[in-house]
Amino acid sequence: ESAPELVVVANRLPVDLEKLPDGSTRWKRSPGGLVTALEPVLRKNHGAWVGWPGVPDVDVDPIVEDGLALYPVALSSRDVTEYYEGFSNGTLWPLYHDVVVKPIFDRTWWNTYVEVNRRFAEETAAIAAENATVWVQDYQLQLVPKMLRMLRPDLTIGFFQHIPFPPIEIFMQLPWRTEIIEGLLGADLVGFHLPGGAQNFVYLANRLAGHPVSRGQIGVRSKFGEVQVGFRTVRAGAFPISIASGELDELSKSRSVRQRAKQIRQELGNPRRIMLGVDRLDYTKGINIRMTAIQELLADGRLDPKENIFVQLATPSRERVEHYMHMRDEIERQVGRINGDFGEVGHPVVHYLHRPIPRNELVAFFVAADVMLVTPVRDGMNLVAKEYVACRSDLGGALLLSEFTGAATELRQAYLVNPHDIDGVKDSLLAALDQAPEEGRKRMRALRRQVLTHDVNRWARAFLNALAETPHAGETGA
Ligand code: G6P
Repeated sequence: ESAPELVVVANRLPVDLEKLPDGSTRWKRSPGGLVTALEPVLRKNHGAWVGWPGVPDVDVDPIVEDGLALYPVALSSRDVTEYYEGFSNGTLWPLYHDVVVKPIFDRTWWNTYVEVNRRFAEETAAIAAENATVWVQDYQLQLVPKMLRMLRPDLTIGFFQHIPFPPIEIFMQLPWRTEIIEGLLGADLVGFHLPGGAQNFVYLANRLAGHPVSRGQIGVRSKFGEVQVGFRTVRAGAFPISIASGELDELSKSRSVRQRAKQIRQELGNPRRIMLGVDRLDYTKGINIRMTAIQELLADGRLDPKENIFVQLATPSRERVEHYMHMRDEIERQVGRINGDFGEVGHPVVHYLHRPIPRNELVAFFVAADVMLVTPVRDGMNLVAKEYVACRSDLGGALLLSEFTGAATELRQAYLVNPHDIDGVKDSLLAALDQAPEEGRKRMRALRRQVLTHDVNRWARAFLNALAETPHAGETGA
């Protein structure tokens, strides 16, 4: 095998290692939109993926199958606690999501974040072909671009941030703000979902890294912002991610999915209307907010518990991080309370699952749902909203969508809500439930036009093309 020309570096590999009770291990596909997004691009380009196998304290060999080589980066239990659960998800995640909960600034966590980022950079430097293109993913690895550039100046380096990039006032709280900005500036192209994220980054680069910035780019509606770093030019731009919409559209039309969707309706007792939520169990997702809205509508007598069922599918996530435990407790209290007050034996109003759900089963739920509730208080994009739309070739259903998701800038025909405004959420939910069929079809048709024409391949191509056009890439002939 020759050295890879395209390398993706992400916290997680596209497969998770599973430790079996007898001590042996086996691989299984790991969850997450990112995997779905990048695998096809890599297979086409004979690429490699550098990432963590998902469990601590295992040292496994690279797996090389045709078209895609996986290079595992080992993390110790301590790395998982301090780099993954700690700095990535106890510091950066809440800081970048509007400080919804208080970020913890812990110097030990930071030191481990630096150390683990270095390990990812070293592994990547060791395998990438001469003049290869490396695409680093997300907030867990923001120091990798600079570290990698020092080790391998020949590489063309891209970075994509999958979560929001916060406003200046919030970012400035971070004690290691300068190191993070300088880390990102090691890339040739830094991508964000929204122009606002790119603007925040360009402004912060100017302010913190002390490099002269072409000021004309700030605040203007140009596709790329630019930062001069010595003789290098770093570009920043918006590349809203999407899903494999065509595949999902097909899958949702399959007989087995259609039948399963019907069966789900029956299993739920043939209610007049099914509301659905599908999320990682994360405090940014506003699961508690939609529960409150439903609970109040039932209490107000505006929603009939005999006719309306709510299904919340929650995937376990980051379960040892304290704020996640609290949110799980809150949600489960709400489920109990709603069913206690409004359910009947054998007929609960809320059906709640806390476990990973197989893909085909999810698609069947999308097809069965009359209203999809997506109510995050902050979300970089939210792919679930797009997945729901891709699954509604029948033009049925309605999407209730928070304004504070990246997806809301593209999915304008959804029922858009401010999740902090409970009365607004309640009114919009009723409007979505009661929409006239023709109105619903009109909205869904427009939403589907957007999602089906802007799929994940288009996203990856747009980013990689822009990366290939950066000045450094031109210089090295990549
Ligand atoms: C978000 C992040 C990803 C992350 C995913 C799942 O989408 O942007 O980087 O992989 O959540 O979270 P986890 O912590 O389980 O990887």
